[in-house]
Amino acid sequence: RKAPKQWHSLGRLDTFVPGKVTTISVQHDVINGFYKSQKIEPVMVYRSSNSNDVVAYNSRCTHLGCTVHWDDTKQIFLCACHGGAFDVNGNVKTGPPPRPLDRYAVKVEKGSLYVELA
Ligand code: FES
Repeated sequence: RKAPKQWHSLGRLDTFVPGKVTTISVQHDVINGFYKSQKIEPVMVYRSSNSNDVVAYNSRCTHLGCTVHWDDTKQIFLCACHGGAFDVNGNVKTGPPPRPLDRYAVKVEKGSLYVELA
């Protein structure tokens, strides 16, 4: 039995700097059959510079699942395992990843940003 998806607060939207990527570690429950555990998920949030559009990316590389991180100097998401790279929109720039970064559903309520995790 899988756990239902749940909304998790990432904090006030106005704390996310426009045009920047911010990584937030979200602790949440994972249910696998009879077992329940906790997991810390790095969520990479990009707030566009000219609007309040927000995208939350799963940090798992779409190649073989290594953790991707944002390189602010190069302005790309990098995967250290096999050299995969993604642009700020999550699209593959180089390397073996077969598709863009996965996105989480997001919503803003009363000025706070939420992300939906399973
Ligand atoms: Fe990321 Fe292979 S796991 S490039």
